[in-house]
Amino acid sequence: MLTPLDKEAQLTQEAHRLYGLLKSVSKTKAAKWTFEDCLAAAPYVLAINRFKKEQNAVILAHSYTTPDLVYGVADFRGDSYELALKARSSTADIIVFAGVWFMAETAKIINPGKKVVIPAGRAGCTLADSMTGEDVKKLREKHPGVPALCYINSSADVKAVCDSCVTSGNVFDIAQKIPGDELIFVPDMLMAQNIDAELKRRGTPKKIISSGGSCCVHDKYRPEIVDKLRAEHPGIKVLAHPECPIEVCQKCDYVGSTKGMAAYVAASSDKTFGMLTEFGLVNRLEAEHPDKTFIWPYGVCSYMKKNSLINTLEALIDPRPDQVVTVDENIAAQAKKAIEKMFELAK
Ligand code: 13P
Ligand code: SF4
Repeated sequence: MLTPLDKEAQLTQEAHRLYGLLKSVSKTKAAKWTFEDCLAAAPYVLAINRFKKEQNAVILAHSYTTPDLVYGVADFRGDSYELALKARSSTADIIVFAGVWFMAETAKIINPGKKVVIPAGRAGCTLADSMTGEDVKKLREKHPGVPALCYINSSADVKAVCDSCVTSGNVFDIAQKIPGDELIFVPDMLMAQNIDAELKRRGTPKKIISSGGSCCVHDKYRPEIVDKLRAEHPGIKVLAHPECPIEVCQKCDYVGSTKGMAAYVAASSDKTFGMLTEFGLVNRLEAEHPDKTFIWPYGVCSYMKKNSLINTLEALIDPRPDQVVTVDENIAAQAKKAIEKMFELAK
């Protein structure tokens, strides 16, 4: 039995551990994480890590969630592809997916026998919510015989009617591998333009037929932002996610997934990077490269930010119905084929 003094010592120790990881990380555009912030987070972090062990749960956190989750309680942090792979190989009884609904849904489809919970509940994504399986079926009827790829940022019923899924980390390679000179790509209309440009650049062009929407975070960047970053920070390297408009991507030094951007920064001897992506990735880079500077104009995903330490604890102890992921069995069986096809094509 811990005495009140022991408990206080444990909290202080946890706060020091967290502060050691987060002291170079921005909490807002104007302020860094403080020791007091870490002290406030410590009781939740300790409780979550204790319940996690007791219940044989694993916590997967997308890099766009907040740093207290990413560094305090997550067993694995990463991009959509890495987290889907971790979900697939997990031996835990419960998967807690700190991300958005389509990510947790994908984990459930790969692991139908496991309990999958999402702290944020039904946190959407403007891409995943832009199209239904019926919309894709109609598109496919208009273009018979044309293979269809869906971005992983899509609902299970969209995945169920596509030939393969892709993530931002493998989209260009998989699009290139698919035979034929036409390709349906849903539901990211901006990424479709980037695929078109990249396949032309590689000398393997295809006609890309697309429908759907865009990411409400990445579609806000404009080419002038790249010019401004370069004018204000000579020598800066500008990195963008392929959900950004093509006019932006074409001006950048690197375009890739959140994992790809992190790898670019890690391998670069440059010191200043302009980040045209969500704040959470900037936070990860600040934590992992305190010697480098990251200039971030704007871009916050309110869906990702619905995950918190409090609702992670809730999802572990006594999840609300909307935190428990369920997928219709028939749709899940069909969607699984598209996800597994991606794993095969991404090799
Ligand atoms: P990544 O797979 O690159 O992490 O992208 C996920 C996402 O939702 C980007 O907006
Ligand atoms: Fe969806 Fe955009 Fe949020 Fe990613 S950043 S989860 S694409 S809304």
